[in-house]
Amino acid sequence: MAVQISPSILSADFARLADEVAAVPNADWLHVDVMDNHFVPNLTIGLPVVEALLKATSTPIDCHLMIEDPDRWAPAYGEAGAGSVTVHAEAASAPVRTLRQIRATGARAGLALNPATPVEPYEDLLSEIDMLLLMTVEPGFGGQSFLDVVLPKLRRARKMIAKHGGRVWLQVDGGVAEDTIERCAEAGADVFVAGSAVYGADDPARAVQFLRERAER
Ligand code: DX5
Ligand code: ZN
Repeated sequence: MAVQISPSILSADFARLADEVAAVPNADWLHVDVMDNHFVPNLTIGLPVVEALLKATSTPIDCHLMIEDPDRWAPAYGEAGAGSVTVHAEAASAPVRTLRQIRATGARAGLALNPATPVEPYEDLLSEIDMLLLMTVEPGFGGQSFLDVVLPKLRRARKMIAKHGGRVWLQVDGGVAEDTIERCAEAGADVFVAGSAVYGADDPARAVQFLRERAER
């Protein structure tokens, strides 16, 4: 499927979010990291800010929920109009029900796995999801170094997805930048989240374009 670049606003200036979103008109999706200080040791933004962003942009919002009890909170992000809602397998207690509830809102349902969580146990859930997110850093913060140790899992995930018809997006998140994106693409990723590589650049839109060219190579 065509390469999708999803800039993470975690590295944007939270005091000027609408401007920061407008700075990447060539983004395919906008990645919003929802953190609750429990599932990860950081606290960011929640539903009210997502609702405000939805009014500020026509770019689909890609919500990555790094929160405890996503079963309780995830469907509301879909109801609000998010393009995708991704929950962590490590945090969901009834993932099948939650993923179905997300899909019922019209949003893409995503399942996220931390670097040390194996992908094989989730093969049977591929029919329940529209996107598999493999974290390439431990979740919680922007600007961390890419974990090469996830690359073999990425390759195995791509094979699994191909075996099941190739319909599921394969997203990578964490340390994705000029020097790592080609490795991710080669291993089979097609959705690339980039925070510091986009918002740390002088020209965020150029950074998006540059990352896209590298991923498409
Ligand atoms: C980390 C978040 C990422 C973060 C990535 O837990 O899920 O989306 O913004 O930031 P970079 O691209 O700087 O590693
Ligand atoms: Zn994220």
